[in-house]
Amino acid sequence: MKKKVISALLSVAMVASLLVGCGAAKEEAAAPAATEEAAPAATEEAAPAAEEAAPAAESNGNKVGVAMPTKDLQRWNQDGANMQAELEAAGYEVDLQYASNDVQTQVSQVENMVNSGCSVIVIAAIEGSSLGDPLAQAKAAGIPVIAYDRLLMNSDAVSYYATFDNYMVGTKQGQYIADTLDLENADGPFNMEITAGDPGDNNAGYFYQGAIDVLQKYIDAGKIVIPSGQVDFATVATPSWATETAQSRAENILSSNYADGKNLDIWLCSNDSTAMGVENALAANYTGNYPIITGQDCDIENVKNMIAGKQSMSIFKDTRTLASQVVKMTGQILAGETVDVNDTKTYDNGSLVVPSFLCEPVFADVNNYKELLIDSGYYTEDQLK
Ligand code: GAL
Repeated sequence: MKKKVISALLSVAMVASLLVGCGAAKEEAAAPAATEEAAPAATEEAAPAAEEAAPAAESNGNKVGVAMPTKDLQRWNQDGANMQAELEAAGYEVDLQYASNDVQTQVSQVENMVNSGCSVIVIAAIEGSSLGDPLAQAKAAGIPVIAYDRLLMNSDAVSYYATFDNYMVGTKQGQYIADTLDLENADGPFNMEITAGDPGDNNAGYFYQGAIDVLQKYIDAGKIVIPSGQVDFATVATPSWATETAQSRAENILSSNYADGKNLDIWLCSNDSTAMGVENALAANYTGNYPIITGQDCDIENVKNMIAGKQSMSIFKDTRTLASQVVKMTGQILAGETVDVNDTKTYDNGSLVVPSFLCEPVFADVNNYKELLIDSGYYTEDQLK
């Protein structure tokens, strides 16, 4: 009885939290928490009235599964924590799981979320094509699935996709290189190397292609050359986005192509964990003029390297924004409302074009990190010392 009354009250809190929309979700998040704290008292007082309210269906409760890939890369810890906080503040029960970048573990975790009666499941896949079976089970159970940041591939069980504009991440990286070297007017040639992301992560192809689409004309014109000859995505990809793997490959490239004193001008890295590997390799194996190095995620250690002049730029993807958007979409799904999307054309997962909401990635460097990261409360000043 008490459970049903609280469930009905939480549903009211949840709908109230969604009336405000994405940007203000954080403020709203505080209000429902207050409502929630009042719930026991309210439940006591309102028990007779609440009993007359139609109780939320048991199976269609407020439990949301959140499957994250790993704790080993900083951002996913923030994504998971932000999502859990926002979902719980909006009145949901949250089953948050991390899979240590082990595909079979994530398959089991999502299957458990289906079997434990989650009403919505949010998934940041380790490998986008690896969850076909649990996704089919979710569809059979009528459980909507939101792909989080990384598209779930080759399944018609994906209801929505919430991410940042992945292609724009790449174009921002490429344009930064072109602008910094004034490639429109400079003769070059500039020596460049490339480190892309995990080949099993659909995002990695968008990051790579966005940057290459900006730089290709300069490569074709001979203004940019790649001494290692390693250019195609498959060759420059980094399994699991692993720093150590990126570092080892960078060490090999440096010893094979730059030991003769050749200058390296650019290292295009798709994200911060791989950029860290390149920066570690350069520190121990390169003495020429320091290259432009790109990144993404504004990981704490990489922001420190930006401040120290060891990384040129990163891309800020505020995981609070993405978490708020997913909470809003979750509530809209459960309330049977129209779900906010802003891209219904780009993300074909091999089975369908998934309706998506793209948040905007933001350029970050030593000139604006304080405003972006500290003033916004994302990091404290001490965290970046
Ligand atoms: C991608 C994500 C990036 C990058 C990478 C490593 O899918 O969009 O932000 O950090 O994973 O986690």
